[in-house]
Amino acid sequence: MPVADRPIARVLGIETSCDETAASVVEGGTTIVSSVVSSQIDLHARYGGVVPELAGRAHVELLTPVLADALEQASSDHSGRGIDGIAVTHGPGLIGSLLVGVAEAKALSMAWGVPLVGVNHLEAHLFASLLEQPDLGWPLVVLLVSGGHTLLIEVTAPGEYRIMGGTIDDAAGEAFDKVARFIGLGYPGGPAIDRISAEGDPAAYAFPRSLPGDGYDFSFSGLKTSVVNRVRKEPDASTADVAASFQEAVVDVLVTRARAAAGAVGARAICLAGGVAANSLLRARIEAACAEDSIGAFLPSRALCTDNAAMVAAAGYWRLTRGDRSGLDLGADPNLRLVSTV
Ligand code: KG4
Ligand code: ZN
Repeated sequence: MPVADRPIARVLGIETSCDETAASVVEGGTTIVSSVVSSQIDLHARYGGVVPELAGRAHVELLTPVLADALEQASSDHSGRGIDGIAVTHGPGLIGSLLVGVAEAKALSMAWGVPLVGVNHLEAHLFASLLEQPDLGWPLVVLLVSGGHTLLIEVTAPGEYRIMGGTIDDAAGEAFDKVARFIGLGYPGGPAIDRISAEGDPAAYAFPRSLPGDGYDFSFSGLKTSVVNRVRKEPDASTADVAASFQEAVVDVLVTRARAAAGAVGARAICLAGGVAANSLLRARIEAACAEDSIGAFLPSRALCTDNAAMVAAAGYWRLTRGDRSGLDLGADPNLRLVSTV
């Protein structure tokens, strides 16, 4: 049997869409054999956000050692021994960052003689849930909340997606990061606000809850402005109180919309995905809401919520086993959309 046609068991995933350089080997689509994530947080922190040019250059430096580590932990090496396919995030994300992963994946696919598949970063986040809970029932409503996206997606089967709503301005993670920067909590803001909110009063400030339209859309820019105005008027306001009240408002609208969406499609469960899914309050509130509505709640472990390559390998495994292949002309698409492919 030609090498490229052998059955797919182990897939190498590569993720370089934003500021995490990651590589992972996943077996059978659900067993994580290795998962290495090198975060560039320290590099970008002093600028208060990701600097695209620096991110691209850092991926070039970090990808080789990250790959070597992930392969070694999977008892493989630069020869690609035991690897049956390669999956790489090819969008959406920062173009200069995406290109680093895509170029490497193409080179390895050619050198090792194994098939290659380009994976949508958003689809990869959805597959993070399947890694830990392979027998999730359908339909599901996934609340995908990250630094760049805020989406409510009905998933009727792997690959079958319907976008029910999304943000009309800032993404939820972006709102966390911008507010954190304004109140002096640094970057990345989400984890900092999560931490300090534990010491604050979530009822201290009644920040607005924006529920635009009568569908499932979100808007966070008014909330952000309201926090900024409040702190300008009251410079001595307790940072913990402001953070806790802001977090309460964000989580409130996320849970309200997700719950309504799940009810509308008769979802068996609500699934969280993306970096903001690591938020303690969001996790607790989604669990409580689902318990009340007698549906499942699936909250991937925090390490699988934020960017990683195991989710890319898992999505890639599914794509490769159904026959999807990318050629060496695979490009990076910073605005790649999530569309159904079945
Ligand atoms: O999915 P992700 O790692 O990267 C993107 O694809 O964007 O998400 C990163 C975002 C950042 O905005 C970060 O502040 C936010 O997720 N985040 C959190 C928490 N951990 C990460 N937001 C709220 N609470 C957290 N614990
Ligand atoms: Zn992400």
